[in-house]
Amino acid sequence: MGRERAPTPEWTTHGLGPHAHPWPDDPRLDPELLEHGDTRNVLDRYRYWSMTAIVADLDARRHPFHVAIENWQHDMNIGSIVRSANAFLASEVHIVGRRRWNKRGAMVTDRYQHVRHHETIDDLVAFARDAGLPIVAVDNVPGSVPVDAAPLPHACILLFGQEGPGLSEAALAAADRVIEIRQYGSTRSINASAAAAVVMHEWVRVHAGPGEHPHAPAADADSA
Ligand SMILES: C[S@@+](CC[C@H](N)C(=O)[O-])C[C@H]1O[C@@H](n2cnc3c(N)ncnc32)[C@H](O)[C@@H]1O
Repeated sequence: MGRERAPTPEWTTHGLGPHAHPWPDDPRLDPELLEHGDTRNVLDRYRYWSMTAIVADLDARRHPFHVAIENWQHDMNIGSIVRSANAFLASEVHIVGRRRWNKRGAMVTDRYQHVRHHETIDDLVAFARDAGLPIVAVDNVPGSVPVDAAPLPHACILLFGQEGPGLSEAALAAADRVIEIRQYGSTRSINASAAAAVVMHEWVRVHAGPGEHPHAPAADADSA
């Protein structure tokens, strides 16, 4: 007789309910989640995984682009930018200026994303030089080149400005390249987090392979 298989757990409207016994023998799984169910906003293949195990899995395959955003006036876009950085699997998010930012738009994705703070643009530049990363400033200022006109660098920092003023003079001066997203309407600009999503998507379009799908089953679906 074969080994007894754990009954398949029940899918809820958003995730999985409690896991029936016996529980799979997998150190990545979190007993609390197995006990009470897992309704987190994560890919199906991460169901019941501990946050530490998910972060370790992401760390092993992060893309070499970083995202930076200036935060001199409590920019409300940072949460959504962190969420997009998680979706497109950025190495890190850098916040330049004020340390505090509104986490609501991140929808908890900040727990899976490395976020680093820099007091000034000079501090970001020092980090970039140490890491050998070119800074690609993103803003529609005179002299900007369309984002699709040339491939984005493989390893780089994509630097975004805040609502209202856009990128600071210091940020533009620190950039190795300044790019913009083509526009056609009457508005001067799009929302900074929308701009970040467009440019991150351009990076993955050029450099990354097929993406993850939220409903793809785990490779070892029998056990989790
Ligand atoms: C409100 S916009 C900045 C203002 C803009 N420079 C102006 O002249 O009105 C805020 C940020 O969103 C990003 N952004 C918005 N629209 C963009 C576009 N078309 N191309 C590149 N970046 C854009 C940039 O990072 C910018 O610093």
